[in-house]
Amino acid sequence: MIGSMDMGVRIGDLVMPNPVGVASGTFGYGQEYEPLVDADALGALYTKAVTPEPRRGNPAPRLVDTPAGMLNSIGLANPGLDAFIAEKLPGLRARRCSVVVNVAGKTEDDYLRVLERLEAEDGIDGYEINVSCPNVAHGGLAFGTDPAQVERLTRRLADARTRGGARRPIIVKLSPNVTDICVVAKAAEAGGADAVSCINTLVGMVIDVKAKRTTLAMGTGGLSGPAIRPVGVACVYKVSRAVSIPVIGLGGICDADDALQYLLAGAVAVQLGTAVFSRPEAPLEALEGIRAFMEKEGLSSVADIGALLL
Ligand SMILES: Cc1cc2nc3c(=O)[nH]c(=O)nc-3n(C[C@H](O)[C@H](O)[C@H](O)COP(=O)(O)O)c2cc1C
Repeated sequence: MIGSMDMGVRIGDLVMPNPVGVASGTFGYGQEYEPLVDADALGALYTKAVTPEPRRGNPAPRLVDTPAGMLNSIGLANPGLDAFIAEKLPGLRARRCSVVVNVAGKTEDDYLRVLERLEAEDGIDGYEINVSCPNVAHGGLAFGTDPAQVERLTRRLADARTRGGARRPIIVKLSPNVTDICVVAKAAEAGGADAVSCINTLVGMVIDVKAKRTTLAMGTGGLSGPAIRPVGVACVYKVSRAVSIPVIGLGGICDADDALQYLLAGAVAVQLGTAVFSRPEAPLEALEGIRAFMEKEGLSSVADIGALLL
């Protein structure tokens, strides 16, 4: 609650203190931004992806600016599950905001290994499942492009939760690189997801004409930033009408108005990613702007924003 306003957001058994989070891969594990952002005031911190083994990621160059955005091919670089628990989790445990661990892997069993191990650890409030990873057992096609696979993976993860009491929500993070994102969202819901988040990055490529080669060493990368915002808003609008679980919106959010577009489209919460690189203060400013909007509209609950869309 802020004053008489209820800023809380319910995702399964979890209540996030407010609707504004920072997106996976753009905020590290929190301590990286320590002097710049009061992460405790956020609704949620979504960690960089955690995989069973440490990953160095892709070769450089792996970042390039694009009009109104950027392209990255970081490749899920992360210290791995053991180091995450030993070195990153203690800092995250002390957070007042919700801590959602982004889970990734090359096989279904990879995802299971991460979740099962984290179930034994305190200080985690939920799991965001990054299904944009290439599935090694299926010729490298991303998990998230195959609805049957998304449903099965989600079900296995949902069933693998062993903690008593409030269950940590499973949030399946949807890829926009599919023909119909609603089909995949419904598959996640059928598999027992507590929520979906959308969108992950869009596949893109930049070519250096002088060098006659792709700018990124990997060739393609993931497009993020304001350039993808209209795609994300449309996805949230469609997905929130296709499923009855909560939808968390992201893609190109830079300020309160951008966040409100997503909330009006049907998201219950939002995340800021690329914007945080240049303006670490953007998420908390967006939260302030959402609160001011609610005051102006006479809303007492953030959950009522979506009903305002004409
Ligand atoms: C450098 C970078 C690293 C990312 N790493 C991850 C990741 O590990 N897991 C994940 O699910 N998404 C990852 N993402 C995707 C973002 O979380 C987000 O879905 C996407 O960038 C769109 O939001 P934005 O336009 O606000 O950045 C990454 C994005 C960027 C730019």
